[in-house]
Amino acid sequence: MIAKYNAKISGTGHYVPDKIVNNFDLEKIVDTTDEWIRTRTGMFERHHASSDQASSDMAYEAAAKALDAAGIRAKDLGMIIVATVSGDHPFPSTACILQKRFGVKGFPAFDVSAGCTGWIYAANIAKQYIENDIAEHILVVGVELLSKLINWDDRSTNVLFGDGAGATVISRSEPKDISRFIDSELSADGSHYDLLMQPAGGSRTPASKESVEKNLHTVYMEGNKIFKHAVKSMYHVCDLVLKRNHLDVKSIDWLITHQANLRIIEALGKKLKIDQDKVIVNIEKYANTSSATIPIALDECIRNSKIRHGDIVLMASFGAGLTSGSLLMRL
Ligand code: UT7
Repeated sequence: MIAKYNAKISGTGHYVPDKIVNNFDLEKIVDTTDEWIRTRTGMFERHHASSDQASSDMAYEAAAKALDAAGIRAKDLGMIIVATVSGDHPFPSTACILQKRFGVKGFPAFDVSAGCTGWIYAANIAKQYIENDIAEHILVVGVELLSKLINWDDRSTNVLFGDGAGATVISRSEPKDISRFIDSELSADGSHYDLLMQPAGGSRTPASKESVEKNLHTVYMEGNKIFKHAVKSMYHVCDLVLKRNHLDVKSIDWLITHQANLRIIEALGKKLKIDQDKVIVNIEKYANTSSATIPIALDECIRNSKIRHGDIVLMASFGAGLTSGSLLMRL
């Protein structure tokens, strides 16, 4: 089907909580070392939300900046999509809470659960609605507050995650505009769904005294098994969009990948044969903010003029599900 319009990113924003927890702070409460965290992951600092903050609070701050950058108001939106696995409540959606915070209504608002690939999934959904002329502006937010879902007895996960939100306004690209989504690819392999999950709190294992005592409402991850899938699946979705669009990797100005592990980011860059200077890395400052890593990195790079209007950007992510996805766009 021929799309009626193209979609583009018209504004970005991000928010991270004030409280910074670095590796030395973690050394005091977890059986870990700065050296282990740095060499195994590339992480140094992460931001943790305060006890009275919820995901929608962070999403609101990031979204307000993105709307401002896009030069539109919340009433101009035709849809809100929030990518999260750590929303304010299991239901209703954090997107509906965000809609209320902006004082608007009368258009769809929903969450997408695709783990760390959430923002790529949500941006892709928004792209379809824009291309088919169902909405003109869609707010897409990736937000996670995983510090409240951490198992402080499990050092293999508790040092890895940070809180934050990255927001984007996805809008119709006018014919004279060079900015547009070029292509995208989404995938999932549900056969490994149990490698990364929050085991309890859903209909399979509802909340009980036992589920709380066993820490089943926190992040469970078999990190080294996930690691093996990460590079392979992100490479696959990147390679597909490059080939489909007859693009050599040399024509890509920037690669923004999910920030879960510096070794994964570098290995993907190497496999794609992209110049390492074009690979965006901010994992040392924020650690793994799951669905927020890519929109946070994108906003940072746009605000400090590293990524400029007209640049070709390839994005790729990987996460719980196991999901994976890529997005190719001209900014
Ligand atoms: O964002 C969603 C997708 N997630 C990912 O992509 C995460 C992918 N996985 C990873 O990034 C890595 O697997 C981790 C960073 C999670 C772990 O690194 P690893 O090199 O795979 O370590 P490992 O789990 O194989 O553990 C190696 C050793 C173990 O000790 P022994 O058995 O070799 O003595 C662990 O007990 O490291 C130990 N270890 C730690 N040591 C100090 C695990 N966590 C820690 C820690 N501090 N925090």
